[in-house]
Amino acid sequence: MTGSIRTQTTDKMLVIGATGQISRALQSQFPESIITSSRNYSTNDGPIVDLSTIHTDSSEIDRFLQKSKLSSVIIAGAMTAVDACETKHTDAIRINASGPRLLARICANYGIRTIYISTDYVFDGLAGSYLETDQPNPISYYGTTKLAGEVGVSKENSNSLIIRTTWVYGPDTNAKNFSSQVCKSFESRTPLMVPRDQISTPTFNRDLALKIFELSQSTRTGIVHVAGGQRMSKYEFAVALAQSYKIPADLIVPVATKELQQSACRPLLAGLKSHEQANIVRPFLRKPLPVD
Ligand SMILES: NC(=O)c1ccc[n+]([C@@H]2O[C@H](COP(=O)([O-])OP(=O)(O)OC[C@H]3O[C@@H](n4cnc5c(N)ncnc54)[C@H](OP(=O)(O)O)[C@@H]3O)[C@@H](O)[C@H]2O)c1
Repeated sequence: MTGSIRTQTTDKMLVIGATGQISRALQSQFPESIITSSRNYSTNDGPIVDLSTIHTDSSEIDRFLQKSKLSSVIIAGAMTAVDACETKHTDAIRINASGPRLLARICANYGIRTIYISTDYVFDGLAGSYLETDQPNPISYYGTTKLAGEVGVSKENSNSLIIRTTWVYGPDTNAKNFSSQVCKSFESRTPLMVPRDQISTPTFNRDLALKIFELSQSTRTGIVHVAGGQRMSKYEFAVALAQSYKIPADLIVPVATKELQQSACRPLLAGLKSHEQANIVRPFLRKPLPVD
């Protein structure tokens, strides 16, 4: 690893994954401090960054990081389609692991801190909720690539932090996320099958963004878990979301995970806890959620 050649940094940070839920929660709360970047567009003259092709040409991001005097790069871009990862192995490993690893190496060259956002899918779901010190054992290709990303980023940049989180919800316009699926099911009057046997700890996206921001400003390295302080099943989570949005939950149908016949295995008893209570954010917000 190359030592730092930078002596001065600004308080600005670059977030990879501009269109994602977590990136947008960061942008909405810290617009002055955040430059976002994705494979198709960027804000504030940030670089275009495609984690799947960065290994063939990293010159644009390299030039940007060399000049930018950023304090940190937050890697919130990922291939998050868990079932697609089972068949698109090359994309999944590049986007979730080797791309972030290379980015962390470039950051290290310029003395820039790297924050990699990860998941409780690195665990097998036999005995959650999990602490930072628990042994990962992914049961899906998504989880395997995210664990490889954690290891690679940590190896390349000694000033890096892995932040694991889970079941992120809250104001967001992204039609892909789970909150949006609950709303869409109501709007289209289409039943939504939701597992009653998957357990985790839902995390409010604005609480998560605040914690990510705080931790990015700290000197913490290693792994931290940031999650909501309440365990519930995915079915209970869906019903709670519907109640928060003040829509009926009658179309939310509880099922067993195996009935969904998904390509990837899901950790059932998952969820996160932390050795540091400060990283456990609010339990599920039982009040109307802002829409965005
Ligand atoms: N949301 C959750 O419940 C949750 C739970 C645990 C962990 N996490 C972790 O948190 C991170 C962010 O999650 P999220 O919910 O914000 O994700 P998301 O809403 O699914 O967004 C993923 C982001 O990654 C970007 N991306 C995909 N392929 C890329 C590539 N080749 N190069 C650069 N960017 C690419 C997407 O850009 P495009 O729009 O161009 O596709 C999008 O901006 C991920 O690492 C995920 O593993 C999320």
